[in-house]
Amino acid sequence: MRNLMRLTSLMATLGAAVLLAGCERPPIDAVQRGYRGLAMEQVYNPRTLAAQIPQNQPPAAMDVGSPDGPKAGQILQNVKVLGDLSIGQFTAQMAAITAWVSPKEGCVYCHDLANLADDSKYTKVVARRMIQMTQKVNADWKPHVAATGVTCYTCHRGNPVPALTWTQPLAQDKRADFIGNRNGQNLASPSVGLASLPADPVTSYLIKPTNIRVVGTTSLPTGNTTSIQATEATYALMFHFSGALGVNCTYCHNSRSLGSWAESPPQRTTAWHGISMVRNLNTDYLLPLGPTLPKSRLGPNGDTPIVACATCHQGAYKPLYGAQMAKDWPGLLATNGTPAAAAASAPQ
Ligand code: HEC
Ligand code: HEC
Ligand code: HEC
Ligand code: HEC
Repeated sequence: MRNLMRLTSLMATLGAAVLLAGCERPPIDAVQRGYRGLAMEQVYNPRTLAAQIPQNQPPAAMDVGSPDGPKAGQILQNVKVLGDLSIGQFTAQMAAITAWVSPKEGCVYCHDLANLADDSKYTKVVARRMIQMTQKVNADWKPHVAATGVTCYTCHRGNPVPALTWTQPLAQDKRADFIGNRNGQNLASPSVGLASLPADPVTSYLIKPTNIRVVGTTSLPTGNTTSIQATEATYALMFHFSGALGVNCTYCHNSRSLGSWAESPPQRTTAWHGISMVRNLNTDYLLPLGPTLPKSRLGPNGDTPIVACATCHQGAYKPLYGAQMAKDWPGLLATNGTPAAAAASAPQ
């Protein structure tokens, strides 16, 4: 009998250990961000932060070149997007691009050294479009990136392909076994915080304008025709937001009313502009590059890698914790002659 009791208590201890294995070990820091009593606190694991902060530092500042002297466009043969820079600035910009994108490979990653004007490497063609995309973000998406802006380093961090691009997970829906159609969910996927939510919120919401709102605005259900399925998909996207920024839901919402803008912190409006920005980048820049990329660069389903919130943020509430790198690089600040599009209006 006593043995049996011991066994039961051992099993209970083991059971608790298994159950708690998914939890984070204390101590955990909680930071209050709203009025007391509103439960608007952010919960941080100090050990995760300690490991993450050094990984999200900007690189050492580099020489930006003198603005004096002839323009690159007057001297060089095949410059289509950086022609307004002085020769000194152009050369410094090439050195910086190399340090940010292909530090191991060097200039040859994009260039045939016998003829720097040649466009035969696909990487140079992609890089030119990337320069235009970076200019677009800094010039026209200030409602999201403010004065912080972005450089190639924001996404690339010294890698030719950014570590956190988005590709579609292998289709789970095609299975025809007894489990039936998974409808893209019911598998604990890391992309949605190991919840059984739809595993690909990015392709569904961050390419085409797609409705994210699911909360009813009237007391009667007749005012809200949204399905449970759509709600699960919205939550999957919100898990991506939280994971990408390393924050809780309360960074952008008051959890007593997730839909209310009046009660949300201002960060939710910044995020709202970010959603439109990411759709713009994917539709106008990333997806059209698909045919230029070699097959080995495509996702497991043959899809073109796109940008998600995590591509820039990489676990930080502001990429590189808000380090302002872009302001030093005139070649990345303005789009060539295209006037800045009127900033999108704030959400209602
Ligand atoms: C990640 C890709 C990439 C890397 C790495 C790179 N470049 Fe470039 N380079 C470009 C692109 C794109 C252009 C065209 C810019 C334009 O159209 O305005 C260019 C143009 C040039 C040109 C102008 C050639 C001409 O006459 O048209 C020179 C010179 C040059 N790069 C030098 C360098 C040097 C030197 C390095 C190494 C320190 C380097 N580049 C590294 C992408 C790259
Ligand atoms: C918003 C994020 C983002 C920024 C900013 C960005 N890139 Fe990229 N870059 C990507 C993504 C995503 C890919 C992978 C998809 C592709 O190749 O089209 C990529 C791919 C590339 C590639 C192809 C590499 C290969 O080996 O296939 C080059 C070259 C490149 N970027 C250069 C640049 C340069 C130069 C800049 C700065 C002027 C820059 N990128 C800024 C997101 C970004
Ligand atoms: C980085 C900011 C951010 C974070 C973090 C975030 N959200 Fe959101 N959330 C938004 C934005 C922006 C919208 C509105 C999108 C729109 O209107 O198109 C939204 C919308 C929603 C909606 C739909 C509201 C409606 O009007 O129907 C729900 C529900 C929601 N979020 C829940 C959550 C949950 C749960 C979490 C944590 C897992 C979370 N959010 C984390 C920014 C965020
Ligand atoms: C092209 C890079 C890039 C992408 C992609 C991106 N962001 Fe940002 N985000 C930034 C930069 C840069 C800032 C800093 C702006 C500032 O200094 O105020 C920022 C700031 C924010 C902030 C404000 C943080 C604060 O504390 O004020 C929120 C919230 C946010 N982003 C959410 C998102 C969400 C959600 C997505 C995906 C839909 C996203 N971002 C995609 C670059 C990006």
